[in-house]
Amino acid sequence: MPEENSVRLHCPAKVNLLLAITGRRDDGYHELVSVVAPLAFGDTLHVTHCESPGADTLSCDVPGIPLDESNLVLAAASAFRQHHPVKGHFHFVLEKRIPHGAGLGGGSSNGAGAILALQELCGHPLNEATCYQLAAALGSDCPLFLKAMPLIMRGRGEQLEDLSPPALAALQGRRILLFKPPFAIGTAWAYGRMKAQGDAYVDADEVESRLAAWQQQPAWESFPLLNNMQSVAFEKYVALPVLLQQLREQFGLRCMMSGSGSACFADIEGLDSGRTAALVDTIRQAWGPEAFIEETQLAGA
Ligand code: C5P
Repeated sequence: MPEENSVRLHCPAKVNLLLAITGRRDDGYHELVSVVAPLAFGDTLHVTHCESPGADTLSCDVPGIPLDESNLVLAAASAFRQHHPVKGHFHFVLEKRIPHGAGLGGGSSNGAGAILALQELCGHPLNEATCYQLAAALGSDCPLFLKAMPLIMRGRGEQLEDLSPPALAALQGRRILLFKPPFAIGTAWAYGRMKAQGDAYVDADEVESRLAAWQQQPAWESFPLLNNMQSVAFEKYVALPVLLQQLREQFGLRCMMSGSGSACFADIEGLDSGRTAALVDTIRQAWGPEAFIEETQLAGA
């Protein structure tokens, strides 16, 4: 290994095009069925291996991001070392663009990105199964980021299934607008509300048959957009359903909250630049100048 060795990695954000929380599990987690799509938009992670001894370090261009092992980047490095001891230390520099508490998978993507980067720097010492195991131990949403394409996620998030090529083709490259209000929603809070309410779950068989039917004849227009976490989030955060309804009425858009929120997304494929500007303006008027708004695409084309 040379004295210093570096890699630079895109850590994509994701949206859940379908998120069905179908029930509680004995381990305290929830069972889910989801179609999740990484985006062209995301963070950038730079990793340098230095031969000199020392602890792994992390710096970030955005203040307020934890820089200790509660950050999945350093947690991933530590888990990686347990499987493959490495001399020297790693320095991680994170260019953070994905907002926190958004349901866009920012922290999980960084953790998965760290595993991929260390694999690259160390000559791929871990097999694929071990990488997935490490990612699943870091967080339920980490394994999906080891693949750079839309896929089906089940279990608590660790069971991944590829979409058929026609289904992939129906999703990839689709132009979408992400928008998030200035407030965040905690994932654990949202799942806690699902548990407390008890009746917000959807039937797993019904979701599976809708998904199977879509995969038989996949087209974007017939994709079964669904997120049953919306019901618990919308009860407390009424700014979300109010704006989403307005966007449906004024712009005829298909739009929804992603994951446990608070970010939402709208399909803007085919929307011309004037209408897109009007859409952005409407969101800013509703949620203020602090709202996060980003135009991007479903990745993997
Ligand atoms: O796995 P992760 O640490 O990212 O999950 C964060 C929290 O979200 C968990 O503590 C749990 O409360 C909740 N969760 C869940 N079921 C899932 C995924 C997450 O209840 N499938």
